[in-house]
Amino acid sequence: MGSSAEPRLRPTPLHEGLHEGPHEQLHQRLQRVRERTEALIAGLEPEDLCLQGMADASPPKWHLGHTTWFFEAFLLEPHLPGWRVEEPRWAYLFNSYYDAVGERHPRPQRGLLTRPPIAAVLAWRRRVDAGLRALVDDLPRRSPAEADALSALLELGLQHEQQHQELLLMDLLDGFSRNPLEPAVNPGPQGAEAEWTLRSGDDPAARGWRSHPGGLVAIGHEDRDPGFHFDNETPRHRVWLEPFELAQGLVSNAEYGDFIADGGYRRPELWMSEGWAVASARRWQAPRYWRGDGEFTLDGLRPRQPGAPVRHLSWFEADAYARWAGARLPSEAEWELAASGPDGLPMAFGLVWQWTASPYRPYPGFRAAPGAVGEYNGKFMTSQFVLRGSCFLTPSDHGRLTYRNFFPPASRWMAAGLRLARG
Ligand SMILES: [Fe+2]
Repeated sequence: MGSSAEPRLRPTPLHEGLHEGPHEQLHQRLQRVRERTEALIAGLEPEDLCLQGMADASPPKWHLGHTTWFFEAFLLEPHLPGWRVEEPRWAYLFNSYYDAVGERHPRPQRGLLTRPPIAAVLAWRRRVDAGLRALVDDLPRRSPAEADALSALLELGLQHEQQHQELLLMDLLDGFSRNPLEPAVNPGPQGAEAEWTLRSGDDPAARGWRSHPGGLVAIGHEDRDPGFHFDNETPRHRVWLEPFELAQGLVSNAEYGDFIADGGYRRPELWMSEGWAVASARRWQAPRYWRGDGEFTLDGLRPRQPGAPVRHLSWFEADAYARWAGARLPSEAEWELAASGPDGLPMAFGLVWQWTASPYRPYPGFRAAPGAVGEYNGKFMTSQFVLRGSCFLTPSDHGRLTYRNFFPPASRWMAAGLRLARG
């Protein structure tokens, strides 16, 4: 464990058995992921595409441009012979945080970018899609090592685009929540939000606690597992756990309402000092999108479902709730161990991200990938906490057991809730 100097971003080797058509699968996957991003803006108005509700969020058009820039900068420009960057100045607009690649437009000002217009961004996407298809077709002519490295980068680009699909939706929710008209991203009763609410009803399997004896356990991505993983999920390593119990289900809106009714936001003894300062300064009195008996959602203002998992909580609120409930947040090792057991863990994926007590730090022996893509995760491993699972906005084929999401403790525009632990 922890001894490997092997590549951290290793997908299924695509050069093997090309006659069986894996490059066709890759073509299809490329098309599916790229099309889904564009489907997310199909119901939006042109003005929505530049909406940036706050400095942490980005406009939909920027997400479409940035994911395209990622493929052009990391795959096509360096690796596809003859590729020409038609708009070199766009790299300045759509680079997010890669210092090795160059200077960039300030993040809080992405909403000012009315140009290039969406039609130009979509045309760029078409051009880059064609370049990516040419690159995939060229893989059999590359050396096995190069084909492996390129398919790993391609997969990273696709996983990156899927991350941005979720970001696009949570950023939109933030932006629309600031509009007094309370607009809906998914108009009508059949929106994704309505579907999610149905799925998250009271689940009898998700009551009570499960206990674990603890001991010496291993967490993190298995080196021999060919499935995709981000570099931050490695190396697999051992952790010592004391005996613990984990709640089978997630904390619900009704339970969180009891915390509020019991003065949860008025009792400093329940809070970390920094959290109390943030909550007081920002006048937090409830989860971010609660409005009276309702909740602002991608479907607009909806009645709040008492049994549904509470969401849009900061780490500080989740931590205070757990203390009030006589429990605590689980560590990420406890979460992963429970979720990897033969019975799985109810409500682990597809509802809300679950805050853990674990600071976002490198696993023992972690090494960032060489080059600019090494900036993907490693440089953010400070001052944040890990969230586990996935949420209803996460593409269904994107989450996995070892996934480490991370946000600063005061953030609450992502769909984050909590599961209690004790012991
Ligand atoms: Fe990004």
